[in-house]
Amino acid sequence: MKRLEIQYQEFAKIQELNQLDELLILAAKAALEGSYSPYSNFQVGAAARLSNGSIVTGFNIENASYPVCLCAEQTTISAVKTQYPNEVIESLAITVKSAHSTVNQPATPCGKCRQLLSEQERLNGSPIRLILNGEIGPVWVFKSVNDLLPFSFTGEWL
Ligand code: THU
Repeated sequence: MKRLEIQYQEFAKIQELNQLDELLILAAKAALEGSYSPYSNFQVGAAARLSNGSIVTGFNIENASYPVCLCAEQTTISAVKTQYPNEVIESLAITVKSAHSTVNQPATPCGKCRQLLSEQERLNGSPIRLILNGEIGPVWVFKSVNDLLPFSFTGEWL
């Protein structure tokens, strides 16, 4: 039998993060306010920190035709790639807020976004750290997208 193990850090609150990570989560929380999510009433904000120190943000954009909805990770990656095509993404903070209840634990990226981020990580040539937080409560830090999508499908098969 083979065994796969992942490790991640948990911080009790965002104030326990280092200053750069706390700033990135705060940028994601600010971005979340731009979310267009009238159907789910679930706001998602993301903020990427690049190797040149820039922070690029995004949020989810929904549509009456539900499959057209864009996740916050998608809009953020689009913004990064159009504004800074040559920069490496060092960290990505993702945060959520629901109109239905207070989200008190981190929400992890959906499968499609894990696949999107995974390929960007490969292009990057270095891991993208993920910093995840709900509206309140603990923060989870993963050192690589790959930790959330082991055995990912890659272009090597094509
Ligand atoms: N959503 C994201 O923005 N990112 C994810 O990884 C999961 C889901 C958005 C899509 C939709 O607008 C809302 O959250 C509810 O699914």
